[in-house]
Amino acid sequence: MIIETPRLIMRPMDISDGEKVVEWRNQSRIKEMNFSDKNKILTLDGHLKWFESTRKKRIDYIVEVKESKQSIGSFNYAILEDDEFGGLLKTAEIGKYIGEKSQEGKGYASEANRYWLKYGFEIMKLDLIISTTKIVNFSNIHINEKLGYVKSKWPESLDHLSDSWLLMKLTRENWELSKLVL
Ligand SMILES: CC(C)(COP(=O)(O)OP(=O)(O)OC[C@H]1O[C@@H](n2cnc3c(N)ncnc32)[C@H](O)[C@@H]1OP(=O)(O)O)[C@@H](O)C(=O)NCCC(=O)NCCS
Repeated sequence: MIIETPRLIMRPMDISDGEKVVEWRNQSRIKEMNFSDKNKILTLDGHLKWFESTRKKRIDYIVEVKESKQSIGSFNYAILEDDEFGGLLKTAEIGKYIGEKSQEGKGYASEANRYWLKYGFEIMKLDLIISTTKIVNFSNIHINEKLGYVKSKWPESLDHLSDSWLLMKLTRENWELSKLVL
């Protein structure tokens, strides 16, 4: 399914996006903000193997600017089942990045995010979306708070992450409420 926003098209990632995605994910500004190994260089072959092996438990989309047709980044959901975050709720962890540095700060991530949440709650029928974010990732925390996410306690088994990572949760109820003020 294609998602259309005022300025963007969001479409499923496929293997032909591989080279671009590898270029984006190898940037230190992206690596630093997720759990990936900072010293490991991702290869196209490695990416394609990962892509193929993860299709059942995650969904990845590419964000394109309508006007220029440029691919600028990606949004994803990793499905979590019966996990320590949501228990029996249908839960997914959101991920996002604007891979094209020159396209950061133009409001594209916020715009795509709003429609990505709508897709998550309305089409995927999620009950809970979690975001794990570096404590210093101020723009991401700001975007999340605007959309109704709440800073949450880490489950005990993952509390060691709390020095550098923040857990944020967005319930369906809070999402419904945040739509009223946007
Ligand atoms: C996080 C990321 C997706 C944001 O993209 P972006 O293009 O800058 O996002 P937007 O332009 O839509 O919005 C940025 C918002 O953060 C705000 N912001 C920017 N710097 C900030 C700071 N230091 N403190 C607080 N807010 C800040 C902006 O003012 C803007 O909010 P506003 O629309 O209310 O004014 C992008 O920086 C990125 O890809 N980072 C690397 C990967 C990453 O961190 N992914 C998320 C964690 S998985």
